[in-house]
Amino acid sequence: MKIAIMGAMPEEVAPILEKLGEYKTIEYANNKYYEATYKGVDLVIAYSKIGKVFSTLTATTMIEHFGCDRLLFSGVAGGINPTLKIGDLIIATKLSQHDLDITAFGHPFGFVPEGAVFVETDKDLISLGKTVAKEMGKDIQEGTITTGDQFVHNEERKNWIEETFKADALEMEGASVAVVCDALNIPFFILRAISDTADMDASFSFDEFMESSAIISAEFVMKMVDKIVE
Ligand code: ADE
Repeated sequence: MKIAIMGAMPEEVAPILEKLGEYKTIEYANNKYYEATYKGVDLVIAYSKIGKVFSTLTATTMIEHFGCDRLLFSGVAGGINPTLKIGDLIIATKLSQHDLDITAFGHPFGFVPEGAVFVETDKDLISLGKTVAKEMGKDIQEGTITTGDQFVHNEERKNWIEETFKADALEMEGASVAVVCDALNIPFFILRAISDTADMDASFSFDEFMESSAIISAEFVMKMVDKIVE
C-alpha cells in the first residue's frame, strides 16, 4: 500500500509533514514530493500549487511515477451551503468543474463529450471518513464539491454555481484530481475545511482562516491514515 496525501498550497500539507517529522524530499516535474514511512505504510505527500492544471499534474505523478494506490486530498474550500461555517469539514461525494463550458454546442455546463458532469468519490473511503468523524466526536458533512480555476468572491457567481451544480462547497483542485483518480482506478477521498463563504468578503476571510482550516483538514486526514493502516 502506498498512500498519496495531497494539498494545493504549502499550508495544506505543512501540518502533515510536521506530524511525520522525518521524510525524504524528491524533486520531480517542477515540484517537491515528500516520502515517508508512517506506521509501516509508505506515504507520498505533496502540494500541487493552485488550480486544475497543477493538481492534475501532481495527482498523476503521485500515481504513475510514485506508484500510489490511493489518494487523500486535504485542503480548504469556500462554503456554498449555508449550513457550512468557517472551520467545518466537508467530504466530497461527487465533484464537477464549474468553469467547463461548451454550452455553445448544446452541452450542459461541466460536460465535454466522453466525460461526465460529476465524478463520484470512493464509497469505502467516505464510510471510513464517517467512522473517523464519529470516533472524534466531530460533525462532518458530505456533499457535492465543484471546482474551477477561479477564486470565487461574489454572490452572483456563487449563486449561479449553487443553482447549476447543486454544490455545497467550491474550490480549485478537487474535480481535476477526481478525473485523474477515476481514470486510473485509484480510490480517492477529497476533504475540505471551510475558509470562507465565496462572497464579497471571501478574500479577507480566506486570509484570516485558511491556515487554521487547513490544519483542521490535515488533522482529520491523518486520522484517516491511522484508520487505513490499522
Ligand atoms: N478555496 C477556498 N475558498 C475558495 C473560494 N472562495 N474560491 C475558490 N477556491 C477556494
